[in-house]
Amino acid sequence: TDQVPFYGPVQAGIVTPAQDRLHFVAFDVVTKSREQLVQMLKDWTAAAARMTAGKDAGEIGATAGILEAPPDDTGEAIGLPAAGLTLTVGFGPTLFRDATGKDRFGLAARKPAALADLPHFPGDTIDATISGGDICVQACANDPQVAVHAIRNLARIGMGVVSVRWSQLGFGRTSSTSTAQTTPRNLFGFKDGTANLKAEETDLLREHLWAVADDGSDWMAGGSYLVSRKIRMMIETWDRTSLGEQEDIIGRTKGEGAPIGQGREFDEPDLTSTSILADAHVRLAHPTTNSGAHLLRRGYNFVDGSDGLGRLNAGLFFIAYQRDPRTHFVPIQLNLARHDAMNEYLRHVSSGLFACPAGVSGPDDFWGRALF
Ligand code: HEM
Repeated sequence: TDQVPFYGPVQAGIVTPAQDRLHFVAFDVVTKSREQLVQMLKDWTAAAARMTAGKDAGEIGATAGILEAPPDDTGEAIGLPAAGLTLTVGFGPTLFRDATGKDRFGLAARKPAALADLPHFPGDTIDATISGGDICVQACANDPQVAVHAIRNLARIGMGVVSVRWSQLGFGRTSSTSTAQTTPRNLFGFKDGTANLKAEETDLLREHLWAVADDGSDWMAGGSYLVSRKIRMMIETWDRTSLGEQEDIIGRTKGEGAPIGQGREFDEPDLTSTSILADAHVRLAHPTTNSGAHLLRRGYNFVDGSDGLGRLNAGLFFIAYQRDPRTHFVPIQLNLARHDAMNEYLRHVSSGLFACPAGVSGPDDFWGRALF
């Protein structure tokens, strides 16, 4: 069926085969009350369990309630199936200590070392109003209406406790997270996700994806750290670039997606060969160039209309999961920011970092219980 189980040892939406659509939201917590925050997380968890099973957000539903009160579901998903919906929650650095240094909820001592703020990367043009956040929810589904419905209902349930800080819609997964999936393409027209970490690679996932208690934060055992980067792609400039140069920039062929100098998509890139140029993206991002670090990428394309200058406001909403951003995203992105030939066509405009805890074990458990 098209239902992804909500309960389990790890959160769904990480190694779950990437669905086709995304609605990602970051919230600010606006209450001062820890109790209200915890109650909202319980209410969210119950609603998430229902919605991922294809049901209304509330027990009564969109149309069966009394006429005098707003319904406990907004209604736009009536008649739609679960569509593979997953909801994945994460906690940002500011939940533990806000921008003014205040420990609003008594959580500062529990902040994982791995949740250290990302550094400024060369070339960054980050807009703070669409970055950061105390809590994120990643909604993925094969129907955009289902993903939007889920986020909308969580925002509705959270009224007075959280407010939406920013959100992003995405389409056309730009990664495969299972060997059972074919590799999709990003807006540069290249296959994206070929050399990604995949659900079947259990040893690599243990080493690179899932946090364990010994990493320093017991409540993050079975969890993973999410880095989001909204990356504007200058597609009009790209489209005037020759095919050969495009392939040199990526380090792979445009058709097959094979490493330059090799024949097939899944051939291992030969980095000893000079056919993959020194500033090619795959050379700089490859594990052997980055002390063995592997990321699980789970990004989506976006087009947010046009920019008023005759160009599409388009790009990649990059999402990566890892056991520790300090050893994974940060060194890889430093390498890319300094040397990647692709930078001429890119602009990083938003950035997010969130600690996504382990899965919810059953109806008595809730998102973040181990933290609170
Ligand atoms: C590989 C595109 C940003 C990390 C690739 C590939 C493409 C691509 C086409 C080759 C196919 C594949 O193996 O998936 C892009 C575009 C980006 C972008 C268009 C920006 C808009 C990033 C960022 C990171 C990153 C920000 C991490 C900091 C990687 C990694 C690989 C990869 C780890 C696999 C390298 C390997 O093991 O061979 N990317 N990428 N990419 N990219 Fe990116």
